[in-house]
Amino acid sequence: QNEKDSQFIVSNWAKDHYHRLLLNTDEGQSIGLSYLRQRGLNQATIKTFELGYSLDQWDDLLKAGEKQGYERKYLEKTGLVVAREDDQGHDTGRRYDRFRGRVMFPIHNVSGRVIGFGARTLKPNDKTAKYLNSPESEIYHKSDVLYGLYQGRQAIRAEELCYLVEGYLDVLSLHQGGIKNVVASSGTSLTDGQIRLIKRYTDNVTVLYDGDAAGIRASLRGIDMLLEGGLNVRVVLFPDGDDPDSYIRKVGDQRFKEHLDNASQDFIQFKTDLVSREAAQDPVKKAEAIRDVLQSIGKVPDPIKRQVFLQQTSQAFGIDEQVLISEYNKIVRTST
Ligand code: CTP
Ligand code: MN
Ligand code: MN
Ligand code: MN
Ligand code: MN
Repeated sequence: QNEKDSQFIVSNWAKDHYHRLLLNTDEGQSIGLSYLRQRGLNQATIKTFELGYSLDQWDDLLKAGEKQGYERKYLEKTGLVVAREDDQGHDTGRRYDRFRGRVMFPIHNVSGRVIGFGARTLKPNDKTAKYLNSPESEIYHKSDVLYGLYQGRQAIRAEELCYLVEGYLDVLSLHQGGIKNVVASSGTSLTDGQIRLIKRYTDNVTVLYDGDAAGIRASLRGIDMLLEGGLNVRVVLFPDGDDPDSYIRKVGDQRFKEHLDNASQDFIQFKTDLVSREAAQDPVKKAEAIRDVLQSIGKVPDPIKRQVFLQQTSQAFGIDEQVLISEYNKIVRTST
């Protein structure tokens, strides 16, 4: 049995432990389970995603793990237990649980093994982060993981489409609403490794990021990376202040699905709309916007698709195609 196996085994045990605490203890039920219920999640979703709860104590997991005979070393290597350091950064020999009093989201790799955790605080005024995630380890490389891929991979293949969301709750709410082809890049902004992972299942991605300024910025960045990865990209915007989870809760499964169909735009429409909202009549801003779209088209590896996108951009902005193409050639030459 090698190092990695031991870390897989400890992680799997911890997942079961947190799940038991959620379902079978007073604290888990009254704090963790009632929170998940209040967020609209049902028993089936909780089971499918193996959600859990960590007790609000310093060493529950450490004690339980050692009682089961797991070596401290592996509890630490998976980041479940943390070494307490003194002011100089020296190990004091004391150990404590990383996750305390939080709802636990186990993160599975594509073969279904638990490799890490996301954890949400339940304290409204928590001074620490809303979400804590497992640190990088020998088994958890967060840039190569997509939350929900294990549970959604068959639907992604069947639908020939992957919805990309920001958060854990977005994945859970959509999955529960019957949209199972959904993944999140939780805990990191989208990476090339995650894009390659999606590409093993489909060429089509629809970005469903939060309807706030940060979400739009992340969408723009994500679009270019996905295009570069050779994927076909569409975008659906949500009202400011909503994310896919809050929106599906607000309007219901049926209207949410209709919104996905009706409000879905390809990346050129999306970018065109963004600018026309801000700079409808300003020729300088419009020119900038067109160059911005051309820049994105330059990322597309397939020359035929590039050609189609250029035609589409010409129509969207009402600019002569030959003018656009000569500008495109200038931009792409200077940027590569
Ligand atoms: N995230 C994180 N650390 C934080 C904040 C966010 O890792 N301190 C990640 C989480 O994966 C989170 C995602 O970024 O799910 C999106 O963040 P946000 O939109 O703020 O949270 P929600 O997922 O919407 O969570 P909730 O609805 O519970 O507030
Ligand atoms: Mn790594
Ligand atoms: Mn957000
Ligand atoms: Mn949310
Ligand atoms: Mn959100």
